[in-house]
Amino acid sequence: MDVDPLDLICPKRYGENGQPHDLLARLRQNSPVHWCEPDGYQNFWAVTRHADIIEVSTQPELFSSEAGNITVLSDQQVADQAKGGSIVANMRTIISMDPPDHRLYRKVASGFFTPRGISQLEQIVNDSAKALFDSLGDEGECDFVDVVAQRHPLRVLATILGIDRNDEERLLVLTQQLLAGDDPDYQRDAGSRYEATQEVGMEFYAMFDRIVKDRRANPSQDLASMLAHAHLPTGEPLGEIEMFGYYLIVFVAGHDTTRNGLSGALEAFLAYPDQLQRLRENPEMAKDAVEEVVRWSAPVNYMKRTALADATVAGQPVKEGDFLVLFYASGNRDEAVFARPHDFDIGRSPNRHLGFGWAEHYCLGAHLARATTQALVSQLAERVIELEPAGPVVRTESNLVVGAKRLPVRYKLRPAA
Ligand code: HEM
Repeated sequence: MDVDPLDLICPKRYGENGQPHDLLARLRQNSPVHWCEPDGYQNFWAVTRHADIIEVSTQPELFSSEAGNITVLSDQQVADQAKGGSIVANMRTIISMDPPDHRLYRKVASGFFTPRGISQLEQIVNDSAKALFDSLGDEGECDFVDVVAQRHPLRVLATILGIDRNDEERLLVLTQQLLAGDDPDYQRDAGSRYEATQEVGMEFYAMFDRIVKDRRANPSQDLASMLAHAHLPTGEPLGEIEMFGYYLIVFVAGHDTTRNGLSGALEAFLAYPDQLQRLRENPEMAKDAVEEVVRWSAPVNYMKRTALADATVAGQPVKEGDFLVLFYASGNRDEAVFARPHDFDIGRSPNRHLGFGWAEHYCLGAHLARATTQALVSQLAERVIELEPAGPVVRTESNLVVGAKRLPVRYKLRPAA
């Protein structure tokens, strides 16, 4: 099968074309576990079918998140790792641990992220979405990413991590620099990309260090306080590196993903105005609409695993040390599981999408992400009178967390009820 593997992994192409859904569909059909040798990047197996992604995800002892990093590295990143890796890459976080450690460390914060834990944040989440819509006025034009999508999760995460409102703007810049590292618009000025990541990591560390010290002196109910006092289920206190890793992973895994989910929601409703109309007539569909947004937009495009032994995936032998890239964006549009998979349908049921991953590493923040997205979708249902594109969508140059970085819209809104 004729495949240019750079279409699957080159950040610039994601910036130009978005997710390569046509290619992913051909791979699912003809070569569901496909060997890729992209110029300038690590080689990997592209795993594109829903069932095969589940098969790999449910065997963390065989397909490791710890052994070989969870993203496909460019040659430059491999060279940086050989120098000792950046402060960020060296953080030990749950997303790159294997069992049994993974389960021990995940338990440290899992209580906070249960539906019950998250229900206590409902007020903050709903107030944030409402305040952002209020700030838009009755009618006008805006870049939805700048004014709404990136600010809503920032407010929610800053609140649970105890970050002062005055620091939110700085935090936003740091997050963009850390995460969208392949996109020139977000890159920090530094001698090299390696130095830039080091500097950003140090700034994050300084910010979190202040908060931890404060929470140790003045405990409160937020996640920051929980982590500052955390013990492993075995009784030992959480080590410093792991604690900062936790802060970072919650922030890093929670911000850009939700931001892109929110802009994905808007893109979907703009592309399918009938679904927006349906939502306005049936606001109780907001919850199902959120699942469909995550399926359709798949903000986390893929995650990588490393085979710890020779194995077989969907009949394809893979060797110890091989990388397997689980394309969640592809599993979410697998025609074997979803009828009319490319259509955005807020009534889709069942909706067993893989947008939050599967099994061992299933998104820890999924309930929070759902609540944050639902608050915004509910505002759309309640307040939109008219909504239309006001210019071309500009996409982030990233292969990992994907979506719009500029989404100009024109709108007419009604005031909050
Ligand atoms: C729409 C928004 C979100 C999406 C699409 C998303 C997606 C994902 C996916 C696909 C994974 C699996 C990673 C893997 O397979 O290795 C994951 C893991 C994770 N997510 Fe999310 N996420 C979102 C929001 C959040 C939020 C709001 C938080 C925290 C506040 C969060 C925290 C985490 C953490 C800590 C993990 C690692 C879990 C583990 O390794 O056990 N995510 N997420």
